[in-house]
Amino acid sequence: MTQSLLMTGATGNLGSMVARQLLAHNHGFRLLTRDPEKATSIQSHLVDIVQGDMGNVDSLGGVFSGIQTLFLCTPSQPQQVELECNLVDMAQKCGVRHIVKMSSFGADTSSSMTMGQWHGKIEQHILRKRIPFTFLRPNFLMQNTLMFAQSIKAADTFFIPLKTGRVSMVDLIDVSFACMRVLTTPGHENKIYHFTGPEALSYTEVAQKLSLLLGKDVQYASIASDVAADAMMEAGVPHWLCENLKELYSYLAEGKSQAITSHLSEVTNMTPRTYDDFLKDHRQFFL
Ligand SMILES: NC(=O)c1ccc[n+]([C@@H]2O[C@H](COP(=O)([O-])OP(=O)(O)OC[C@H]3O[C@@H](n4cnc5c(N)ncnc54)[C@H](OP(=O)(O)O)[C@@H]3O)[C@@H](O)[C@H]2O)c1
Repeated sequence: MTQSLLMTGATGNLGSMVARQLLAHNHGFRLLTRDPEKATSIQSHLVDIVQGDMGNVDSLGGVFSGIQTLFLCTPSQPQQVELECNLVDMAQKCGVRHIVKMSSFGADTSSSMTMGQWHGKIEQHILRKRIPFTFLRPNFLMQNTLMFAQSIKAADTFFIPLKTGRVSMVDLIDVSFACMRVLTTPGHENKIYHFTGPEALSYTEVAQKLSLLLGKDVQYASIASDVAADAMMEAGVPHWLCENLKELYSYLAEGKSQAITSHLSEVTNMTPRTYDDFLKDHRQFFL
């Protein structure tokens, strides 16, 4: 089968959800992975799995044959700019007509967040190539709050250095559905979408919602970001990631992620899910 859509990151957190949405709506694609074993849960007659490493251009020969649209999605990591720019260069050589890049809120070459700078540099690289593009910039995902489950179970308290910052968190289900629409319907070329939820909540409000859901008093403790970084280091998180998360948390604490946009509903024709909707579906994780 000749596929016209190349999916990267489709064995990862965000990309696998987009891949599932594509399959649920009967859209086929080619899936690039370093390890085809990781793609077994996405196997289907609609999926053509190819092995390759974005860090090794020589392993990517033929990957773009017949491809018109590239979905570019890799983890936030120090190699991200190099990996994604490699693929963009190949996409241009192979005549790809549309690059859909998974980016992030705050993407900007002059962002206060290193992760935002990485996305900004890749976006600029794509713009210089003059290939039609769509930049998807989701806000902090509601799913990230599942990381509180363990400490809520242990001590009815969760710890994160967000002070009184409000965040218009968005549900990954909505983001993945919107990505599927962008990849499979016309009219998204040369657009930048900021995907947000319908409300900007403080983490005191998040704690109140968790208290209601669980029928107990859940407390939010806004610890200092250095204390949070030390705890992450002790838990084995690499130093560069701790530093990047500190920057992200400062960004959120300063209220820079509280804007609410209509982009998600414009792309999906649906109302974005609230945090209450998300919690109802994830109650079991906190018990
Ligand atoms: N979490 C959030 O709140 C949030 C919000 C907005 C935006 N984002 C953005 O979403 C993006 C994706 O995040 P994620 O959590 O989904 O990442 P992730 O799960 O860590 O991504 C892993 C995926 O990247 C692929 N990959 C990594 N290196 C590769 C390489 N050298 N060659 C080929 N494929 C490679 C992996 O493929 P294989 O292992 O199969 O080869 C796997 O499919 C990030 O850039 C992040 O900034 C996240």
